[in-house]
Amino acid sequence: MLLELQENISLKSFNSFGFDVSARYFVELKSVEQFEALHQLIADCDLPVLIIGGGSNLILTNDLNQLVVVNRISGHSISEAEDGTLCVTAGAGEDWHTLVRWTLEQGCYGLENLSLIPGTVGAAPMQNIGAYGVELKDRMLSLEAFDLDTGEKQRFSCEECQFGYRDSVFKSRYPGRYLITSVTFSLSRTFKPVLHYGGLIGELEARGIESPGALQLSDLICETRNSKLPQPELIGNAGSFFKNPVIQTQQAEQLKERYPGLVSFADKPGYSKLAAGWLIDQLGWKGRREGDAGVYEKQALVLVNYGDASGQDILELAGDIQADVYTNFGVMLEIEPRCYP
Ligand code: EPU
Repeated sequence: MLLELQENISLKSFNSFGFDVSARYFVELKSVEQFEALHQLIADCDLPVLIIGGGSNLILTNDLNQLVVVNRISGHSISEAEDGTLCVTAGAGEDWHTLVRWTLEQGCYGLENLSLIPGTVGAAPMQNIGAYGVELKDRMLSLEAFDLDTGEKQRFSCEECQFGYRDSVFKSRYPGRYLITSVTFSLSRTFKPVLHYGGLIGELEARGIESPGALQLSDLICETRNSKLPQPELIGNAGSFFKNPVIQTQQAEQLKERYPGLVSFADKPGYSKLAAGWLIDQLGWKGRREGDAGVYEKQALVLVNYGDASGQDILELAGDIQADVYTNFGVMLEIEPRCYP
């Protein structure tokens, strides 16, 4: 299959915020076999490369004088080890939620808490996606990627990805250098529900469910997410816009004296993680709107594009929120999605 190089393509339908910027060059990579041709194209173009998956974690502020590559490598398979561990390998271009549901339908458990996270399989390790008490790193075994500098294929173990909270070696140390082709997960035939996070147990009790099945838990998580988070097809967004800040527990305790309702969780020893949504909400930002850029009415951590907001509009709103939170709580919020150019 030949690569089809296109020019001056609008990226509006390729990013979940719906920013209408264009790519100077644009190509869709549909299989691993096409990589050699892509590598040659990258050399010929001599422009910076931006690889996107579902585009659900991107802020695009301007037209890109770049080569944009949409990763569409597909396929998934399961193999079972003697100890009952299941290795599931999926192509980087597969839709994340579709993969999660497929694993559950195969009686393959472990990804249920990560249901309905937008984006693709290959994008998931970039930021170590996480929700409801489970992170990708808890279930990932390894991944394969091409090094765009050398053209060589490389395997990364989970440890080598240096995963942190919404962070990986691909995001912080080598941005833009690797094109992930597939991800392998270590899953199980035995369903061990993770229910400790937030209101999950309460939600199950409210429905009269004592011990949920995996699909039931996945359904509940979909329902919970849908009740709080806007669907990108309807209102442009990139999920949580800021990371929940990790600060010294001493500072968190001082804040708690001034703000008894402050929501915080224990993190690594001596540190606490604050709910950024609570801080923003407390300052009255929830539901506010500046033109078409807004703070979602049901979740203050989510910034939304009501139609024609630009990436710059969203960043301006984000800057105002950061300044307000810093002035009032002395905490600097870090923006979570990746910003280009
Ligand atoms: N809160 C408020 N007001 C708000 C929003 C939140 O007071 O407007 C409070 C809630 O009451 C709750 C706390 O903040 O006590 C935490 O809120 P929530 O459980 O909704 O989770 P979150 O911290 O806002 C994180 C992840 C989400 C993930 C959920 C569930 C980050 C940056 N975000 O959100 O991930 O789905 O937990 O596990 O860690 C994403 O990364 O894009 C994302 C959506």
